[in-house]
Amino acid sequence: MRIKGGIAILDFGSQYSQLIARRIRNHNIYAEVVPHWACIEHIQSLGPQGIILSGGPASVYAEKAPLPDPALFDTGIPILGICYGMQVTTALLGGRVAQARKKEFGKAHLYIDQAYPLYKNIPDGSQVWMSHADHITEMPKGFQQLAHTDSSIASTADLKRQIYTVQFHPEVTHSVYGEEILKNFAVEICGCKPSWDMGDFIEQSVSAIREKVGDKRVILGLSGGVDSSVAAVLIHRAIGDQLTCLFIDTGLLRKGEAHKAMQTYGEHFEMRIRLVTAQAQFLEKLEGITAPEQKRKIIGQTFIEVFDRESKKIQNVDFLAQGTIYPDVIESQSVKGPSDTIKSHHNVGGLPESMGLRLIEPLRELFKDEVREVGKKLGIPAVLIDRHPFPGPGLGIRILGEVSAEKLAILQEADAILIEEIRKAQLYHRVSQAFVVLLPVKSVGVMGDARTYEYTAVIRSVNTTDFMTATWSHLPHDFLERAGNRIINEVAGINRVAYDISSKPPATVEWE
Ligand code: XMP
Repeated sequence: MRIKGGIAILDFGSQYSQLIARRIRNHNIYAEVVPHWACIEHIQSLGPQGIILSGGPASVYAEKAPLPDPALFDTGIPILGICYGMQVTTALLGGRVAQARKKEFGKAHLYIDQAYPLYKNIPDGSQVWMSHADHITEMPKGFQQLAHTDSSIASTADLKRQIYTVQFHPEVTHSVYGEEILKNFAVEICGCKPSWDMGDFIEQSVSAIREKVGDKRVILGLSGGVDSSVAAVLIHRAIGDQLTCLFIDTGLLRKGEAHKAMQTYGEHFEMRIRLVTAQAQFLEKLEGITAPEQKRKIIGQTFIEVFDRESKKIQNVDFLAQGTIYPDVIESQSVKGPSDTIKSHHNVGGLPESMGLRLIEPLRELFKDEVREVGKKLGIPAVLIDRHPFPGPGLGIRILGEVSAEKLAILQEADAILIEEIRKAQLYHRVSQAFVVLLPVKSVGVMGDARTYEYTAVIRSVNTTDFMTATWSHLPHDFLERAGNRIINEVAGINRVAYDISSKPPATVEWE
């Protein structure tokens, strides 16, 4: 835990655990997700003012149901159990939980029986979001009902011991006053003060980095993306020229990207940056490879090789800095265990331990939008901060099938036109991510009087808040017409453009 105080969230495997932290941090109160198996000594050593038990997919009476350390309920620290967290609290404290005949899923109305303190200023009958099979049939001794829906006990509490439970999910936006309820828990019940501020974060980080690094040297892989840029500028503020950044141009970047990024960094910051041009090496390794996973692995591996080789050219380096952010950290400590590998993500920061360097990850506690806020406070220009995400393997996974220099050049041109048009139409900030994909499919067309036989390009644009689910953007037809026409007319090698109308799931954002 970064600071004493705030809220610790014990994660029982809910896909929403991060969101709980996010909602609380919206009120400048620090919140951090901790695995549910954390022992009481560890939790107490973090010094939280309150503890939230998250939801989760298990049933409390199942054989391997995840359980918290029962001593948790005797610490005197206020507790809020959400969904599974409610059921586990009820079961462990002597109440009863039963399997419902029907899963309650979706919207419900919350009728409040006892307003203060959890439901202070929450209107009666407001909409909440339910997603549970089991439900409470008997409250533990000392508990009372705080709220109900038409079909279940929706909230209980032992007011003396400060243990609260809710059956619904206050962290999802479908629970209209959910964030307010979480705030009531943190402020009214736990007494948290709004002390989590990005300005303070910068000051604290700068002195922590200085102390950790001393007079040693640090290297960092700069990708042009938000996370590595913010990490670099923050570390640079702390230790100046003791930091060297390596910008590896894989050749799989957007058109002119490496050049533009170097220019922007150069104009705004006097950091030591070395540009390494390595397209030839990447293309050579990718020759003849068509399977998406194999391509991803090769790109990741080649990146590591190049980074390792180049970093050895810099003398006396002790530390490797990475732009790891909080969602990456939570994902790697998830209680769910390894899920099916849909795509092995390669991040420019993901360098191996074998490099023998000590790690610095100053953004480990931050969510993406907090990283952006830090970036803005550090004076990083908006072009670097407010950009769409770009995957580590780059255009390598947007050229379906084998990657070649010719296809890269074609895709870069088409993609540059799309982004230019999307900016011109002022749509760039209204979609979450937009790009062009090049298919290994040729079709017949006609240009002037001549027959053409060229590649097909696909425009992909999605809207999402978390990239775990996404819907295709409903872009105006005249925009699609304009962008499509320009791509066909201006890019040699493409004679047909399609628009991808698949959502995630079942599709994914990237095509490979
Ligand atoms: P998918 O395709 O998994 O993409 O629906 C979700 C988000 O993740 C990005 N993405 C990646 N980002 N390394 C990254 O840093 C990767 O290997 C990678 N693969 C996908 C994708 O662009 C989208 O924003």
